[in-house]
Amino acid sequence: MNFLVRRPWDLSQNRHTPQDIYQNRKQHRRDFLKTLGIAGAGLCTAGISGCGKPTAEELDAAGKVEEIPVAATGIFPAKRNTEFDYGRPETEKFEAALYTNFYEFSTSKDSWKYVSKFKPNPWEIEVGGLCNQPTKFDLDDLYQKFPHEERAYRFRCVEAWAMCVPWTGFPLRELLKAVEPKSSATHVEFETFERPAEAPGFNDFPDFPWPYREGLTLEEASNELTFLATGIYGEALPKQHGAPVRLVTPWKYGFKSCKSIVKITLTDKAPATFWNTYNPREYGFEANVDPDVPHPRWSQRQERMLGTGERYETVKFNGYESYVAALYA
Ligand code: MTE
Repeated sequence: MNFLVRRPWDLSQNRHTPQDIYQNRKQHRRDFLKTLGIAGAGLCTAGISGCGKPTAEELDAAGKVEEIPVAATGIFPAKRNTEFDYGRPETEKFEAALYTNFYEFSTSKDSWKYVSKFKPNPWEIEVGGLCNQPTKFDLDDLYQKFPHEERAYRFRCVEAWAMCVPWTGFPLRELLKAVEPKSSATHVEFETFERPAEAPGFNDFPDFPWPYREGLTLEEASNELTFLATGIYGEALPKQHGAPVRLVTPWKYGFKSCKSIVKITLTDKAPATFWNTYNPREYGFEANVDPDVPHPRWSQRQERMLGTGERYETVKFNGYESYVAALYA
């Protein structure tokens, strides 16, 4: 017999998504609904399979990597660590770059169109909280202090689209080691920049609980898979993928992968997160990929690859069970 284990993002049979989500009271709500695919508007962007070929402008924009610091030129492309190869065709670079979730810029997957004012260099990440060596790292520090490698990971969004992409970066645990977490630390909080002059989303979508925040347990953050990415496809991250540095946790839904991080804080409790604050009934803290834990709006049984539209059955922990199952035993 199968038992359905209910998680924080499950809805019970007699509850439903709050009515205000379905009302077209404001333009940003309409945009949000459009993104969710429940407003009747198609999600047809050039970058998604079956919706037409991308224009020359789109292809050009997809590959655009602006303002790479000089120090980065020695980093990319980094040597591939083949241990993590996923055994599926790699998603085309432009398909991934034209179909991004980055609400600071747009709720319609087309954030590449709105990133021109965003300045990912110079940049600083402040790492602090419950640690003995709180430190501010600039980009040169990140590039030089932490040996970079390339890892190809599966990536799965809670909206059921998926991709396989090569990230460049280093395990987050190396950065955590450098700041020496105190024994009282149990969780890690990640925070994105909040600069309305550089990204239209802060003003366009004022109801969102900015800045974007995410969190992991310290154990999850110290797992071998948990990656701080500074690049993708052998180059520095384009802005729409979360330049200059973002999180990647391939066994969790993509919303956990906080982009353009400015602050990492060690804490002794689970931090409030952007999506969990916005809608606690839909977005739980753990958010591990799991076909048996349905989301109220998107079935999690299958995933659809960006570009090819191929469908695969969802695999628990997104196929990374051997690395992470022990965390949840
Ligand atoms: N980080 C920030 N700061 N803002 C966002 O809107 N979206 C999340 C995550 N990180 C998001 C973010 C979601 S919902 C997903 S699926 C992934 O980024 C998408 O990563 P990609 O656009 O590079 O594929």
